[in-house]
Amino acid sequence: MIKMNNLNFSYEENKPVIRHINLELDKDEKISIIGRSGCGKTTILLLLAGLLKPVSGEILINNQLLLDVRRQTGMIFQNGGLFPWKTVYGNCSLGLKARHTPKKEMDHKIDQVLDNLEIKHLKAQYIKNISGGQKQRVAIARTLVLDSDVLLFDEPSASLDAFTKENFQDLLLSIYEKYPLCSIVVTHDIEEAVYLGQKIIVMKDGKMDEIIDNKKLFGDKSAKKSIAFYEKCIEVRKRLE
Ligand SMILES: Nc1ncnc2c1ncn2[C@@H]1O[C@H](COP(=O)(O)OP(=O)(O)OP(=O)(O)O)[C@@H](O)[C@H]1O
Ligand SMILES: [Mg+2]
Repeated sequence: MIKMNNLNFSYEENKPVIRHINLELDKDEKISIIGRSGCGKTTILLLLAGLLKPVSGEILINNQLLLDVRRQTGMIFQNGGLFPWKTVYGNCSLGLKARHTPKKEMDHKIDQVLDNLEIKHLKAQYIKNISGGQKQRVAIARTLVLDSDVLLFDEPSASLDAFTKENFQDLLLSIYEKYPLCSIVVTHDIEEAVYLGQKIIVMKDGKMDEIIDNKKLFGDKSAKKSIAFYEKCIEVRKRLE
């Protein structure tokens, strides 16, 4: 589904930020990317979203060269990037309206996604009046109504308290069960990386040298109660050093 071929990027000449990245992801694959501040995590997401252009190398999505932003790629930032003066419905309908979706179809789609994300009761609420965790759900809903097949998350739970963060992580797992997606979660949080990735990619200095397989633990909502989970966290921690 996603192919990165010898991808290189720099914001300024002679200061490479992304170096020789080669990676292939299947259409249903869920990965997490972890790495120290400044190693290029946000930059790789911006490249995958088509918001930055590689200096050399290429990105292919469904065998097509990525040259611009793609309707079916959703990017979810830390703050959600919502319009605070609009309602939950208003935020979710923007993209569909821009695509001239008939009202009935639009309402049906929005209702279905809000229901799946357990926020249907907030439909008429203004964004400024809902909680941080609820805002994250709306940000995801806004993308899912557009039939996204790629979701890119940049530290989605960084501003949430511990309890809301765990709720959010479980929500992501249930979205993964309901929607066939290729999902990439960038995080600073080792436990989150292990909980949410079939593969955990450790980034260092713009490179993705370490790919840790996590298929055995992935998807198990009780994983955090097992020793194996914390052993995997220790493995990731060691690779980060
Ligand atoms: N617009 C920009 N212009 C110039 N340099 C930039 C720009 N954005 C980021 N950089 C630099 O590129 C490098 C990678 O930045 P990036 O934001 O991708 O890191 P990150 O891994 O997401 O960090 P963090 O964990 O702090 O969010 C850093 O050295 C950063 O200073
Ligand atoms: Mg970043």
